[in-house]
Amino acid sequence: MIIYILFMLKRVRLSWITLSLLCCGALLGVPTHAAGDAPTPGSEGDTLTKEDRRMAYLVYKLLDKNGKIKGANLKRGEKLFYQNCRGCHGVDGHRIDFTPNEQQSTYMGQRAREDMPTFWYQMNFGDETREGMEPFYDEIELDEMVDIAGYAQTLP
Ligand code: HEC
Repeated sequence: MIIYILFMLKRVRLSWITLSLLCCGALLGVPTHAAGDAPTPGSEGDTLTKEDRRMAYLVYKLLDKNGKIKGANLKRGEKLFYQNCRGCHGVDGHRIDFTPNEQQSTYMGQRAREDMPTFWYQMNFGDETREGMEPFYDEIELDEMVDIAGYAQTLP
């Protein structure tokens, strides 16, 4: 359900931050959940999908109030980007234009800086509606993704 909403909002490119906050409200069940009250991951009461979890992790643990990734190791991020992303996106992220039908091109660095939730979702889960971008959820460790995301925000 939440993911469905995420997709709808993504289509119309509404603010991911607004929607993330909405999600967080839903995930927290607003004030009723005391700390020990959350369902055990994987149990019947645990209705979060892995997508929900990954997006919530981004919002709660990684983003500062300006939408920047906290605590990334940029040196390692650069290396991982080189190994995993450069082949298609180019060393500076400019080989693929994300908005080919618009007058203004959008590249990796800009997307990562201005819309990290979209970046994060795409890196983790790919994009069924577009060819070529595979999900990296099972390929790259979470802590490595943090470094890639932080590094991507430094690209031109
Ligand atoms: C096999 C080629 C390939 C590799 C490897 C690859 N990508 Fe992509 N990526 C694509 C293609 C193709 C698209 C879709 C471009 C389009 O349709 O606009 C895409 C789209 C994206 C988008 C969506 C941007 C947007 O907002 O529309 C992000 C973010 C992204 N890639 C990040 C990454 C990262 C990070 C890595 C490395 C971990 C990576 N990609 C590796 C081919 C690749």
